[in-house]
Amino acid sequence: MRIDRLPAMMLAALLPCFVAAQQDTQKEIERYRQLLQDGNPSELFEARGAEHWKAKRGPKNTSLEQCDLGLGAGVVKGAYVRLPRYFADSDKVEDLESRLVTCMVALQGLTPEEAKRRPYSGPGQPSMMADLVAWIASESRGMKIAPPQSHPKERLAYQTGEKIFFYRAGTHDFACATCHGEDNKRIRLQDLPNLTNAGDAQRAFGSWPAYRVSQGEVRSMQWRLYDCFRQQRFPEMQFTSDASVALTMFLAKRAEGGTFDAPAIKR
Ligand code: HEC
Repeated sequence: MRIDRLPAMMLAALLPCFVAAQQDTQKEIERYRQLLQDGNPSELFEARGAEHWKAKRGPKNTSLEQCDLGLGAGVVKGAYVRLPRYFADSDKVEDLESRLVTCMVALQGLTPEEAKRRPYSGPGQPSMMADLVAWIASESRGMKIAPPQSHPKERLAYQTGEKIFFYRAGTHDFACATCHGEDNKRIRLQDLPNLTNAGDAQRAFGSWPAYRVSQGEVRSMQWRLYDCFRQQRFPEMQFTSDASVALTMFLAKRAEGGTFDAPAIKR
């Protein structure tokens, strides 16, 4: 029987049980998280990512070691917390994944389609992109989230991301803000971070990419947004699309000043 069909009096009587059960479950989830934090399988993905960075690939048989992630050719440490940012060579604002695509095309001679093939891993099918993201992100652990806003295109990306965040559409007339615009909301057992609030935004942005226990995979921010577009009943989000980068810029900026602590571990 659906809960909303229960007579109001019965519901009122049951409510304390639901609340207590939810609190217990929440405690259990917290405990599980703490246990898991001791050993994060993400390290395996990170180690593979570091190898991919050095491996020669593509028609030009070159590695990614000369890729400029924003802090100069080959500098990986601290790059993630200063992304997305504007790059003069592509004349675009890029997040980590779109930047890696640019580098794979320019340095290794891959086509954009080849570079974007298999952006997310699946069972028994690792993704080079996901591994690279896990490793590069891990090289910013403990640093402050600080996306630049000095270039006009960086400011435009932030404004576009903000518009998309509040834009309601689709069969359910949902915006990101419908699920992530208020405190203490939840769906099923998941707490929904209020991404308009700095503390929640810092915790959320600072914990992706993440190893998802339920999926046994490391997932990137691109994947997180892809999956929320799906939950929002929006058209499928294209990997590294301008919309995805703009939203990432918006989230990064809301999280500014927070400490980056990823790849994290999530249920
Ligand atoms: C229908 C509700 C819904 C909508 C709409 C939605 N999300 Fe989510 N979002 C969720 C849920 C549920 C989770 C948590 C999933 C989990 O824990 O497994 C989540 C998680 C997230 C997270 C990670 C939070 C964390 O702390 O790990 C981010 C970031 C995020 N969403 C961004 C967005 C953005 C940006 C949009 C708009 C494109 C959006 N979401 C739209 C339901 C939604």
